[in-house]
Amino acid sequence: MKKIRSFNFENHKKLIFFGGVYSNAEAFKAFLELMDNEEVSMDRLFHSGDLLAYCSSPKEVIQLIKERDINSILGNVEQQIVQEKSDCGCNFNEGSLCDTLSNQWYQFAKNQIDKKDKEYLSTFSDLIKIRYHQSNILLCHGSPNQISKYLFNSSRPEEFEKTIDQSLSDIDIIISGHSGIPFCRFINEKLWINTGALGMPANDGTNRTWFVELNQEGTTIHYQLRSLIYDFEKEAELMRQNQLPEQYAKALETGLWPSLDILPEKEKDQTAIPIKEFKGKLIINNKDQQ
Ligand SMILES: [Fe+2]
Repeated sequence: MKKIRSFNFENHKKLIFFGGVYSNAEAFKAFLELMDNEEVSMDRLFHSGDLLAYCSSPKEVIQLIKERDINSILGNVEQQIVQEKSDCGCNFNEGSLCDTLSNQWYQFAKNQIDKKDKEYLSTFSDLIKIRYHQSNILLCHGSPNQISKYLFNSSRPEEFEKTIDQSLSDIDIIISGHSGIPFCRFINEKLWINTGALGMPANDGTNRTWFVELNQEGTTIHYQLRSLIYDFEKEAELMRQNQLPEQYAKALETGLWPSLDILPEKEKDQTAIPIKEFKGKLIINNKDQQ
């Protein structure tokens, strides 16, 4: 049985969705500073999972999200750590570069996490439902019914459709994470947004990382893919000091992933092509994209 938490926002202020902090405290601190500068209250921030992964500071990112009391769902990495599993649960092909490197960063994160951290992570729900004025939002990690499902902008509509059952008929917007590259697209009449990741660039050849902003105005929801600039050199250095995989330290510097194994052909072809910040709108009851 999936654990679901529900929220209700009556006023027009923005909501922010972000995910994939990946133990990158430098990116997380820069993001929180940006949110403070924009006067976004912490109860309007939602994390799409994978707080822990490749980078140097698993304990610090847990401390930050706990101190700020930010709502999060479980990513597969947190789920595996809480359940004391031996791998990250990404289901990488055995012997692939992602598989080999994940053994290193997963063990590093797992070794640093203590009982108290695990108790805190286990309070995260599997899904979050948000009533945002006249719209209903569902936040999930990979997909609504599969935590480690990789879905990309180029994935076939059927791949998305089979993750949406009748119980989600009232949902207008599905927001997911896990895949590491942000996108927005419509699946039937639902808007599907992937937050991208805050802790690792999107294989677009830039150091930027990504998050999502929603604003409400009348019956219109404005959505925006936004990028973050942070001190990636400092984080890369911390990863090297901690003997974490060089390939991911380099990825922070180059903006390019060490392996493209999980990507469909279309996303592989977009390697090193800078992603543009994107704005669109959804009209509730009469949905339209701009
Ligand atoms: Fe994940």
